Amino acid sequence: MDRSVSQGLILYQNNCIQCHGEDGKGLGALYPPLAGSDYIDKYPDSLACIIKWGRRGKIMVNGLEYDQPMPSNEKLLDEEITHLINYIQNAWGNAGVYTSPEQVEKGLNYCN
Ligand code: HEC
Repeated sequence: MDRSVSQGLILYQNNCIQCHGEDGKGLGALYPPLAGSDYIDKYPDSLACIIKWGRRGKIMVNGLEYDQPMPSNEKLLDEEITHLINYIQNAWGNAGVYTSPEQVEKGLNYCN
């Protein structure tokens, strides 16, 4: 599992850090935080779809509204998405839960 988290850190640095930040706090009113995000706590199963397909439309995170498009990452493999989720869930004092590639594969069948 630690291997997955460290792989996830590298993927995070390459694909996410420019918006969500090294500290996971996002950027002002533009990019929402991942550190301590109540959205992630409420909808952990949505992470795979958000990472793969991006997201657009209004979203509430920790009581603040964000409304900028997040780009998709269609080239990421299910295994890489798993590592990213494991990194996010184990960084910055987040929930500390782990996801398997099987869960990610299943979750990706239910993207909107
Ligand atoms: C170009 C900037 C940008 C990049 C790069 C980006 N995001 Fe986002 N992300 C956003 C924005 C903007 C939203 C809110 C989208 C909306 O309003 O629907 C968001 C929303 C989210 C959310 C749900 C809301 C929350 O804060 O909990 C998660 C989880 C997330 N991003 C994870 C990631 C991960 C993981 C990566 C890398 C694979 C990534 N993002 C790359 C801008 C970005």
